[in-house]
Amino acid sequence: MANNTNLGAAKAAKNDEFYTQYADIQKEVNAYLEYNPDTFRDKTVLLPCDDPEWSNFTRFFAQNFERLGLKRLISTSYAVESKKYKDYEPTLFETESPLFDVDKTRIKGKIFELTRDTNGSGRIDIDDLEWHYLEGDGDFRSSEVCALRDQADIIVTNPPFSLFREFLGWIMEAGKLFLIIGNVNCVTYKEVFPLIKANRLWTGTRFNRRDGGKNMTFLVPDSYPMIGTELYIDEKGKKYISVAGTGWFTNMEHGRRHEPLRLMSMKDNLRFSKHADIKEKGYRKYDNYEAIEVPFTDAIPDDYDGVMGVPISFLDKYCPEQFEIIGATESEGRGFSNGLWIASSGIAQATIEGQKVYKRFFIRKKQ
Ligand SMILES: C[S@@+](CC[C@H](N)C(=O)[O-])C[C@H]1O[C@@H](n2cnc3c(N)ncnc32)[C@H](O)[C@@H]1O
Repeated sequence: MANNTNLGAAKAAKNDEFYTQYADIQKEVNAYLEYNPDTFRDKTVLLPCDDPEWSNFTRFFAQNFERLGLKRLISTSYAVESKKYKDYEPTLFETESPLFDVDKTRIKGKIFELTRDTNGSGRIDIDDLEWHYLEGDGDFRSSEVCALRDQADIIVTNPPFSLFREFLGWIMEAGKLFLIIGNVNCVTYKEVFPLIKANRLWTGTRFNRRDGGKNMTFLVPDSYPMIGTELYIDEKGKKYISVAGTGWFTNMEHGRRHEPLRLMSMKDNLRFSKHADIKEKGYRKYDNYEAIEVPFTDAIPDDYDGVMGVPISFLDKYCPEQFEIIGATESEGRGFSNGLWIASSGIAQATIEGQKVYKRFFIRKKQ
């Protein structure tokens, strides 16, 4: 709960300044490479909503330019003026540049590009990044950044939380491959659920998994208020926040997505489930949906042919060869239940014997 409160607070304050750690980017990208080593080969990768001078996205993709076989790397930053609330100090990189101009950095975003070996070192790497100012502030919605998006094959970033829906729409309208960070709560948004249902968006590999005991953890500005439980200060005095329910969304293939869940039959679940609820109450039918309630993903019976309501965290375990997602509760969006809702009940949230249950996805075994 505390974590969600933190994210809520961040949202309310429009505090979009959560910076992704190098290891999280590296692990995620490696999962796609394991599935297909050529995932990024000859591709143009765009990293929008970034701060290329110190972003780990730019660092990772620039350092691994050759290993990934990239054709072109483009990274854009959002103008300083637009983030006055941030503790901005020009970096050494900026102040030492002959192009440095305090006024310009206040109104213009920057573009960093990597395509060639500029310094004759014999390899293309981070030292070959070339940069100049954008015409505008680097807003992803600007025509300038839209034009870069159109040239890209893959878009990778941790977009501003407050603009997540708009950012996703921006990618989808251009039909690009993507790897972006978001919160699990968005999976029932009207802009997101239809994409999930149509298998046009799924979770990456890290979703909601604790690593070293922590949820996905981000660097935050020094001024970030130390409220909530999952905040840390490291030995260098840098502040970090761990955010539950945060992970990667993508439309690129990775191996785990095709690993079926190992499940028991309904009969075995009723006898051996580790969940007392299942053994005591069995699989009950909703009052107002034509489906049975399965309150835990690991209690999904593998031999039931009808429709099952499952927690939205199922998404992280979803293998499209094993199940199909056919809807969600109407409380998440009108028409989302695909006709499973008993409208005469007048209650959109799923209920069992009058008791409301949490948000649910409806799934069915693949025939
Ligand atoms: C969650 S942070 C992530 C930054 C970086 N991608 C990372 O993960 O390290 C989102 C970034 O988007 C920037 N941003 C906010 N609104 C934006 C907009 N309309 N267009 C482009 N970038 C924006 C913020 O300034 C912030 O740096």
